[in-house]
Parts: sequence; C-alpha cells; structure tokens
Amino acid sequence: MPSAVMSNDDTLPSPPMGASPLTGSRPAAPLAGVVRVPGDKSISHRALMLGALAVGRTEITGLLEGEDVLRTAAALRAMGAAIVRGEDGTWLVDGVGVGGLAEPDDVIDLGNSGTSARLLLGILASHPFTAFVTGDASLRRRPMGRVITPLSRFGALFHGREGGRLPLAVTGATSPVPIAYRLPVPSAQVKSAVLLAGLNTPGETSVVEPQATRDHTERMLGHFGGKVTVEAEPGGGRRITVTGQPELIAAPIIVPGDPSSAAFPLVAALIVPGSQVTIANVGLNPSRTGLLLCLEEMGADITLENRREAGGEPVADLKVRAGALKGADIPPERAPSMIDEYPILAVAAACARGRTVMHGLAELRVKESDRLAGIAEGLSRCGVRVRVEGDDLIVEGDGNSPAGGAMIETQLDHRMAMAFLVLGLAASQPVRIDDARPIATSFPDFVPLMSRLGVVFQEGV
Ligand code: S3P
Repeated sequence: MPSAVMSNDDTLPSPPMGASPLTGSRPAAPLAGVVRVPGDKSISHRALMLGALAVGRTEITGLLEGEDVLRTAAALRAMGAAIVRGEDGTWLVDGVGVGGLAEPDDVIDLGNSGTSARLLLGILASHPFTAFVTGDASLRRRPMGRVITPLSRFGALFHGREGGRLPLAVTGATSPVPIAYRLPVPSAQVKSAVLLAGLNTPGETSVVEPQATRDHTERMLGHFGGKVTVEAEPGGGRRITVTGQPELIAAPIIVPGDPSSAAFPLVAALIVPGSQVTIANVGLNPSRTGLLLCLEEMGADITLENRREAGGEPVADLKVRAGALKGADIPPERAPSMIDEYPILAVAAACARGRTVMHGLAELRVKESDRLAGIAEGLSRCGVRVRVEGDDLIVEGDGNSPAGGAMIETQLDHRMAMAFLVLGLAASQPVRIDDARPIATSFPDFVPLMSRLGVVFQEGV
C-alpha cells in the first residue's frame, strides 16, 4: 500500500502497475480565475466519425485531444479516413463517403472508450467486412449486448465473449435491412449506434427513446446534410428517423467546451469557501444540463453569462461563487441529462447540509467502473454518511467539511478520479486517488487547469 497514513483501511490492494497516485487537499487560498475547459467528448467523437463518412474535407475546431477521442481517430484512420492535426490545432478529416470504410488490417484497440466502441460498432454493422475490436480492462468488462442486439437485426454478425463483451469480431451486413428499435435503456450510445448503422442501409431506420438522451448525433447528421427527423412520441419520448445512404457533405465543426468536464472546476469552486471562478465556453445543450439544475436547487450561485451559439450548440460562460449548499431530491427522469455527473454531484452533496437523494441510477453500474458502488464506497471511506437503496444513492451532509483522509481506488475511471480529487479540496484531511492516469481519457489538462485556479495536487506515494 502506498501510504498507510492516507488510508483508513489496511486491507486495500496495491495500486495498479505504473500507477500515478495524486492527492487533493485544501488549497492555501480560495479558487480564483477564468478557465476554458476542453472540447466536448461526445461531440468530438461524432465530428470525427461523420467527417470520415462525408465526402470532402471537414475542419474541426476545438476537438478534445483526450485519449478516448484519439482512439476514435486512430480507428477511422485504420479504415481509410485521412485524419490529421494542423499546426494551429484544427483537425482535418478527409472522408471516404457513407459506406466507404475499408477492412482494418489489425485489431482495433479502443482503450477506455465506450463511446468509440458502441458508435463504431454501429458504423461497422453496415460495412461488409470483418473487424476485431478490443479495449482496456474497463472497456472489456462493459456490456456490448445492448448494441449487438439491435445491430444484429440489420444483418451484422458478432462473435464476442460471454455477455457480448470485448474482444469481439463483427462482420457487417452485405445487404443491411433497416430496423425500427425502441431503446430498452436510456442510452445515447445505443441510439447513435443504430442511427449510424442506418446510414449505410437503404430505407428508413428509426429509434424510439422513451426518455430524451443527448442528441449530438441527430444534430450533427443534419449539419452534414443527412436526412433526420425527430418526432414527439405519444406518452413522452422521441422517435428519430434517419434516411439511409445519403451523401454526407463535409462541414466545418466548432466543438464547444464539455459540460461534463466543466463540472469538476465548477463544483470545486462551489465547495472551497470564498472561491470565485469563471468557466468559459461551456456547452449548454439542454440534453446535458441536468447538473446545473440540481446545483441550482441546492442553492448554488452560478450565473450564465455571454449566452451564444457555437457550431449549432448553445454555449455560455459560467460564473461560479462558493456558498452553502443544501440537500435536494433528484428525480430519475433527470438522469440522462447528467449521467456522467453523478460522481461530482455526490461530492457536492457530501459538502451540503441535509439529505440528497439521487433516484434511478442503474446505468451508473455499467460505466467505466461501477460508479454507484464506487461513489458509496469512496464517500464512506471519507467519513460521509451514504447508502445505496436499490438504484438510489442517498448522501447525508451536515454542512461541515467531510473528514477525508482516505485512499480511493479509481478503477480506470477518469470521472471517479477527478471527483475524489475535488472532494479533497474541501475535506478536513487530504484525499488520495491511487491512479490519476485515466484522467487523460477525457480531460488531459485537468491538473494544469486546476492549478491556474490555485489548486496544487500532490504527486507520488
Ligand atoms: C455518451 C453517452 C453516455 C455517456 C458517455 C458518452 C455519448 O453513455 O455516459 O460518457 O457520447 O453518447 P450512455 O449512452 O451509455 O448513457
């Protein structure tokens, strides 16, 4: 174990090989400054994928250069798209046209990236060749059955491990047939996989989602000249229909800042007394703003300034001031609009006064790690009263600083790593994470960005 002093549990296993432990502790002064978070991860993946399937050259400004997105770029290159980073940081994608990807001559390794895996499997399902897909230990544990089920109906064949887990082989359909599919789980990845498979399929493919999930795929397909319709479903939800075999035309993309990354400096500024921070250029697509709504209900002081449109998405600058937070009741229907934000919301709840109940978190069990279990375990090690009841997470805050003083295993999960480092900024004793390396999958500049606000994380064991 790296440091007996840091842990309140002597039974902890050693950190992973080559791990890079990091510690968050109370900063010497309140957080202050203006920062700009990196590009949106979801939009970045889609920009590369649709750029690769378009005719002509797509110019992408503000692409997230995190490991997950770079995996998508490498996979698309391996299948024939030309993707380069210009000296000015603009990314250029020369597409091959819908249905124009070629068989990769090696296994495609998607690292930690569930979005790359699920969306690319969608694209591959209607390309008539065989590809082999794998990922890191976290991705190999995650369920792919949720995309294999609908994609098989197009005529694609999959050979995977038990539960459809990676590594798997996919042979795309030679004559794909369009499908109509109702999502059994609220998942933008599954929705997008089906829509992308529908792109190289003659006729109309439709997806019904009972609860709205992030709609970047639909928006961007329209931006590239694809034919997509979105209709309200009786009883709530939406039906999204894509007409197959369009000619997508290359189009410039401006990627807004990622609200899921902004969430970390945002909550840090709320819970470190006296802080005042501005986070510039944050994407505010309504399918992503659940966290802001929750924090507002908890009494957070957040002002949206300079509201505007960038690249077809609403954006604004968030001005955040620290202050007392109170507990809140978070309804299950809000989950899709903040699905990646529960670890950091739980940190805010731990610093609030009163009970916060987050309902309907079943999907957290199949993220980069089992986040429902991980949040409860980590908070409890930090002295917070927390419990899981069914699919609900209940955090009892007393308005004082959580004790902290624990070591957290991040289990290849970037968001768990960042959330617990942020908790350390407000806890009485430092909070150490066993491995900070996963942070680079979505937020490679997290540590330098936080240091611009006055936060110094301590490295080493
Ligand atoms: C994403 C959708 C969400 C989210 C993930 C990115 C996307 O996953 O957790 O980080 O880009 O479509 P699910 O679709 O599994 O909810």
